[in-house]
Formats: sequence, structure tokens, C-alpha cells
Amino acid sequence: MKGFVAKEAPDPDSNVLAEYLIESSLSTIEAAARIAAEESIGTWTEVTTTTERIKKRLGAKVFKVEDNRAFIAFPVELFDFDTGGLPNVLSIVAGNLFGLSALKAVRLLDVTFPPSVLERFKGPRFGIKGVRKIVGTLKNPRPHVGTIVKPKVGLNPKQMAKVAYEAAVGGVDLVKDDETLANQSFCPIFDRLSTVMDALDRAKEETGRVVFYALNVTSEFDSILKIAEEAVERGANMIMIDVLTTGLSALKALARDPSIKVPLHVHRAMHGAFTRVKKHGIHMKVIAKLVRMAGGDQLHTGIAAGKMEHEISDVLRVNDALKAKMGELKSVMPVASGGIHPGLVPANIKKLGIDLVINAGGGIHGHPRGTRAGAAAMRQAVDAVMKDLSLKEYAKTHEELRLALEKWGYEEPR
Ligand code: 3PG
Ligand code: MG
Repeated sequence: MKGFVAKEAPDPDSNVLAEYLIESSLSTIEAAARIAAEESIGTWTEVTTTTERIKKRLGAKVFKVEDNRAFIAFPVELFDFDTGGLPNVLSIVAGNLFGLSALKAVRLLDVTFPPSVLERFKGPRFGIKGVRKIVGTLKNPRPHVGTIVKPKVGLNPKQMAKVAYEAAVGGVDLVKDDETLANQSFCPIFDRLSTVMDALDRAKEETGRVVFYALNVTSEFDSILKIAEEAVERGANMIMIDVLTTGLSALKALARDPSIKVPLHVHRAMHGAFTRVKKHGIHMKVIAKLVRMAGGDQLHTGIAAGKMEHEISDVLRVNDALKAKMGELKSVMPVASGGIHPGLVPANIKKLGIDLVINAGGGIHGHPRGTRAGAAAMRQAVDAVMKDLSLKEYAKTHEELRLALEKWGYEEPR
């Protein structure tokens, strides 16, 4: 292994540490030095205006290289944590470097913040425990079952409410908008909020269970808070946002708004543009840490089985980052979503654990007997795993599960 370790290790209390995977015709250390310069005080040539004082205080330093992985320390003072916040963090650790022609490819694998920085962020208001408390799964924890109303767009508020009601009575813990549903003319946002919440109230009267409705407030920056505040005033019990299309500050503004006292469900639509290619882009772990700092309570992080591209070791790294100790920040509940049906529930839970929201859209509304039976089948699959029974066994006494397995099959967890 080719490597380098600086004589003096960077002080972890006064530096933001970032890890990059680099492909370049230059040596890794030289290529990393280009990144450090570009993202702190340098440019392509020495400039007469850079003083020794600037170099000493603000220069980022490569402190370790292991093969094609380089570790860079960025002095805390380089960042503006007062008003620049997370956008400024990204402009530095994930900024111009991706376009440098000296690098063929570069991937930001991880970022670690010192306690003094983490203290500046309040993080999730609810976290895993807070969300469990509302749903009633704190004492006897199990994965939460969520559903994305399908078709993803096209239903009107009354139709959405009917689907939400059926899903809630069937046994889900969460009903959510799909990421492309905003305030289209066929389904105005406040109309659907009131019809869906009425439907969930009705379901609560019948079942005694609280079911979240994650209303998607993804919109222009000057509308997000207005919509979310009004939604909460009108009874919304969860707010959803596409964090990558709106930005981390939109999420942070929602989390810190004193009148938005409901959990935040965070979707990651668009992440594949920079997380999917393994040698370039940004690892989802970085986004997960930033979402936690910004205040998301639930975040889509990937699956162990389903329709979206996934590598289990990567998903686990991301989920760990949501739950591991990170200053005083509460933990974030990972959401597994995309092509999941009851037959894939064991594979997902056994790999990803029970602190999880397991979502199904098609895998609920595509059930031969409709949404209510689909929701029941998903819950039965979760119950079977919690009882350590095989789905096949459980399906003998649970009709909805049996029909789902007949339609979509069953994947043995490996
Ligand atoms: C999501 O936003 O996660 C998807 O809409 C999942 O839908 P599916 O369960 O039908 O694949
Ligand atoms: Mg979706």
C-alpha cells in the first residue's frame, strides 16, 4: 500500500476532516494537494496577495494518504458557520474540486466535524425515539411500515384520501406523497392535506392508531416555509421535502421554524446523479450527516432488496452515520424505499435492522385485493420477521400475505 502520514496529526477539535477517493495521473498526494489548495487559499499559481498569515491559518492540509484515498484537514476558521452554514460547507468540501482537470475522477467519501461545529447545529427535533413515541412503538420497537400513494401523480384529493384511509386501516404507520407531487392543479396541496388528514382521523377513531401523512412541501425557496407553516396550522402531522432539489438550508429552515413542530421526512430524489458512480461524486454518507445536522427526522438511504440500485455495505455505512454518536444530535430514522413488497421485507429488515421505515408503493397498492389488503400484508410480513417466523409459515394463517407472496414471490434473506 502506498501511503503518507503527516508528522503532525491535525487537531480534530479545530479542523473539518474530509476523505476523498482520487483517480489521477498525478500521485494521490499531489492530486490531493490540488484539492486542498483549490478549496482553501490557493489557485493554479502562487499569487502575491497570499500572506504567510493566510497560509498558516486557513490553508487546508493533506494529512494522510492510503493508496488512492486522501485525507484533508480544513481549518474550522475557513468556514462561515454563522450565516454560510451547510451551503458554505458544501462549497468548500464538495465544491470546485469535482471539475479540476488534474483529476480524472474524485469522490467525497466522508466528512467529520469537530464538536465545536456540531454544537452549532440542533439536528432532528424528534429523531428515532421521538417518531416512535408518536407512533407508539417506543416500548416494543419494530420497523414502521410506510406507503407512497400510487399512482405517484394523478389522483385528486378525494381519491388520495380514500387510498390513505385504506392503507391506514390496513396497518401502515405512514402515508406519504411521492416526490413529484407538489401543488399540481389536479391535486391542490391544502385540499389534499385536509381530505387525507380527515381520512386518517377517521382511521384513528376505528383503530386507535396514529398514522403520519408526509405532505410534500418541495417548492421554490420562498414558498417552502409558508406552505409548511400553513400545513401544520391546518393539522399536518409530518412534513416531507426533497432535500437535494431544494437544498439543505430549506430543510434546516423547516427544522428550526418554531411553528413547524412535526417530524420531517426527507426524500433524496436526484442523489443517484452523484452517489451512483463509485469512483466519482459524493457518498450518501456525507449527505446523511448533513441532513442530520440540518434536522431531518427520517431520510431515504437505500434498500437491501428492491428496484433501486444498491450495495448493502454502502447502505449500512449511511444508516450507521444516522445512528452513531454525533455530538449531541439525535439519531435519524433510515427509510428503505423502492420496489419493496411483502416478500422482500425479511431481506430488508434482516440486513438493515428494525430502526427503519420500510416503504412500499406498488407493493401495497398492487395487491390483488387492493390497498387495505396490501397494507395488511406488509404489516404481516413485518410481524412475521419480528416473531422470527418464515413468511411462508406465516402466510398459512394470513391470507393477505399469502396472496402477496403468490403475486410477487419471496426472497430468502442471504
Ligand atoms: C419512493 O419514493 O420511494 C418510491 O415512490 C417507491 O415506490 P415503489 O414502492 O412503488 O417502488
Ligand atoms: Mg417515489
